[in-house]
This record gives sequence, C-alpha cells and structure tokens, in this order.
Amino acid sequence: MAEPILRVTNIIAGYGPISVIKGIDFNAYEGEIVGLVGPNGAGKTTFLEALVGNIEIREGQIHFLDKRIEGMSVMKRRKMGMVLMPQEDYIFPFMPVKRNLQVAAVLSRDEEKEELLDFVYGLFPVLKERERQIANTLSGGERKMLSVGMCIMANARVVLIDEPSIGLAPKIVTALFENMKTIKEETGKTLILAEQNVKILKIADRIFGLEAGKIRFCEKTEDLDEAVVKELYMGE
Ligand SMILES: Nc1ncnc2c1ncn2[C@@H]1O[C@H](COP(=O)(O)OP(=O)(O)OP(=O)(O)O)[C@@H](O)[C@H]1O
Ligand SMILES: [Mg+2]
Repeated sequence: MAEPILRVTNIIAGYGPISVIKGIDFNAYEGEIVGLVGPNGAGKTTFLEALVGNIEIREGQIHFLDKRIEGMSVMKRRKMGMVLMPQEDYIFPFMPVKRNLQVAAVLSRDEEKEELLDFVYGLFPVLKERERQIANTLSGGERKMLSVGMCIMANARVVLIDEPSIGLAPKIVTALFENMKTIKEETGKTLILAEQNVKILKIADRIFGLEAGKIRFCEKTEDLDEAVVKELYMGE
C-alpha cells in the first residue's frame, strides 16, 4: 500500500499546563474519508487545530507529503495543501456568497478558479442561486455548504472538517455527507471529518475513535461493530 499522505506519530498537545491530546498516532491516505469520532471534550477540535498549526504540539511528529511539518507555520502548511474548516462558521459574513468563494481561492491557480467554482456550484446549486446574497443572511445549512465550498475553492489535498453536521436537519446532513463522498470521488482529496453524527459511518472509509485525548480504536468502517461505536462514541 502507498505511504499515507498524512502521518502523525505520538503527538501531545494542549492548553497551558494541560495536555488534551495525550499521545496520538494517526494516518490518512490520499483519496479517503477518515472519520474521527468521540464524545464532547474528547479532543477532536484540539487535534485538528494541532494538525494545521493553530496550536503547537509539545511532543511527536507530523509528516505531510513526506515532510516534517510540526515546526511549520499555519500558512506554510496551508500552502502545502492542508486546510481546516472550523467548528464555528468559516465564512466572511459581510461579503456576498460568490465573493466568499473567490476569496477562499486566493492560493489556487488562476486557470483552475473557474473550474473550482463550477464544481462547487454543481455540488451546491443553492449557492449559485444565492451568489449575490450576503453570507450572514444564509440559513445554517446554506452556511455549511458555503464553508465546505470554500474549502474546495482552497484546492487543498487534505481537508479537515470539524463537525459539519452540527445544527443541521437530518435530511441536510445526509445530503451534505453524500456531497463529501462526491468530493472524494471526483477530486481524490483526503477528507478528515470530526463527527458525532452516526451518519459518518455511511461515508467514511476508516474510523478513529478518540476518547479523553487517546485513540481507542482505528478500523475500516465495514469492520466496525456499529452498535458499540454508537453507544460509546456518539452518545446514542
Ligand atoms: N482554548 C482552550 N483552553 C483551555 N482548554 C481548552 C481550550 N479549548 C479546549 N479546551 C479543553 O480541551 C478539551 C478538549 O476540547 P475539544 O474542543 O478539543 O473537544 P472536542 O472533542 O472537539 O469536543 P466537542 O465535540 O464538544 O467539540 C476540553 O476539556 C476543553 O475544555
Ligand atoms: Mg470540537
């Protein structure tokens, strides 16, 4: 099997004197969807923030595209092709929808910007319909679609998405997750989704279970005992 595009070895990270991430090994391959599941406070957000460099790690290594990146700035990691869609909104609230998408593409090549925009509009036709609307007047679901659209415009190889399902109606979650699959299949990107919604089990290739800052399991989704995962990690 090919080398993972992202390889994390025994990282420790946290805030002040407290270590929230307590020695995590993790990997992701090109063109797969990885689910990172775990209860509130498990450390999902902290882990993603550490990957993109928003917080520094205390110990361990992060390899991305065969380079050590744990000492690199956020911008350098971003330029190498890693982007995070945070748990809160990622949009520029006072700009129109289309402008948001264009700004997100600032690091993409000019000749690919049109193509990326067409792809995003194809995935989320509502964004095309509302391209002139000011972003903070969108509905919650539309804002998530815009945030995901902006991640695509950024044209990264690895897209980290922190709990995209939060606050969305079940039908919208299903549609959004189907779109994640389309993104994976049509672009070959690696998507890493922190989630507590069980529907992650329908789209992820592999699942990492995070609890109290440690990885408790890593399995192919098809090999998982769904009932156990739901009870332990998704509060069902
Ligand atoms: N800026 C911070 N300063 C101090 N502690 C923090 C900070 N951010 C998070 N924590 C703590 O780190 C732990 C892990 O939080 P984190 O947000 O990573 O969990 P999570 O798995 O993303 O949870 P959720 O599902 O609720 O989003 C929690 O105990 C939280 O209180
Ligand atoms: Mg979180």
